[in-house]
Amino acid sequence: MPVERIISGKALSEEEEHFNRSLRPRTLDEYIGQRAMVDKLRISVQAARNRSEPIEHVLLHGPPGLGKTTLAHIIAHEMGARMVQSSGPALVRPGDLMGILTNLERGDVLFIDEVHRLAAAVEEFLYPAMEDFQVDFVLDKGMYAKTINVPLKQFTLVGATTRAGLLTAPLRERFGIFHHLDFYPAEELQEIIRRSARMLEVEIESQAVVELARRSRGTPRTANRLLRRVRDYAQVKAAGQITAAVADEALLVEGVDQAGLDELDRKVLHTIIDFYHGGPVGIEAIAATLNEEVDTLVDMVEPFLLKTGFISRTSKGRRASKRAYDHLGLAPPRGGQGMF
Ligand code: ADE
Repeated sequence: MPVERIISGKALSEEEEHFNRSLRPRTLDEYIGQRAMVDKLRISVQAARNRSEPIEHVLLHGPPGLGKTTLAHIIAHEMGARMVQSSGPALVRPGDLMGILTNLERGDVLFIDEVHRLAAAVEEFLYPAMEDFQVDFVLDKGMYAKTINVPLKQFTLVGATTRAGLLTAPLRERFGIFHHLDFYPAEELQEIIRRSARMLEVEIESQAVVELARRSRGTPRTANRLLRRVRDYAQVKAAGQITAAVADEALLVEGVDQAGLDELDRKVLHTIIDFYHGGPVGIEAIAATLNEEVDTLVDMVEPFLLKTGFISRTSKGRRASKRAYDHLGLAPPRGGQGMF
């Protein structure tokens, strides 16, 4: 059974979505962290505004939950334009994109999440839209087929992907601006948690903020989600006071451990160690053993385990590190010193 994880980057429900949206920064000034990227975006926005032109197409890549959708909203807001949102898997045929594109006004932002998952026909339809702001739409089939050329207003495409490597070269080349989002350091997450707590009007001890940040997997969406779970727990069990001890108890109930790993993270580590003697093992084999999708592991589990050194990736597959054995309270294999 796939595990539902509260630390996952993917939002889980309508309620979560609403909660995320209410805490989202709306301007670049409100945005905490990713300084280098925010500074560069500020210049792009200012320059485009000075020229009274729409901003160039932007590609955002990085793990889920780090703020790609939020940034697309911010770009639209900063440009005084609207944002229309879709995603790679939702756009099955060129016709699905036709209505969206022809309704865009000059300067509007079209946000396409998971842009690496666009169908080939849709992607090809998008090329002239991005490059020349026009599309060739084929009406009818066979001998009655007719191509009509439809001009578009100059819009900005903001594409988001967890895997820039899967983007085709022709699509990648049509973006003018590229930004990579990386996991947030603890201090920035603390700032985000304090801001969210203020907005939610919850009282939280500074040591609890530190604890929450440490266990948020470098991900603001996770930080906000954990804050909400801890708030609920504190309201029911501790008269609303979020102390470090209350936060710790609440997070253990949720299955998030001291390093911020959840059940799925630990299952992956256990699989590598218990079934494959610490690796190296291919991601497909790990996914099959756990009955999980390869994509889930590659997008949502592996990046953080790699970043924090619980696993390493070699040409032969994934290996558990000494840190992984230590964390799970297991003894590293004998004679295995060299492997770390
Ligand atoms: N909420 C989620 N991500 C945020 C960020 N980067 N800055 C401020 N608030 C946030």
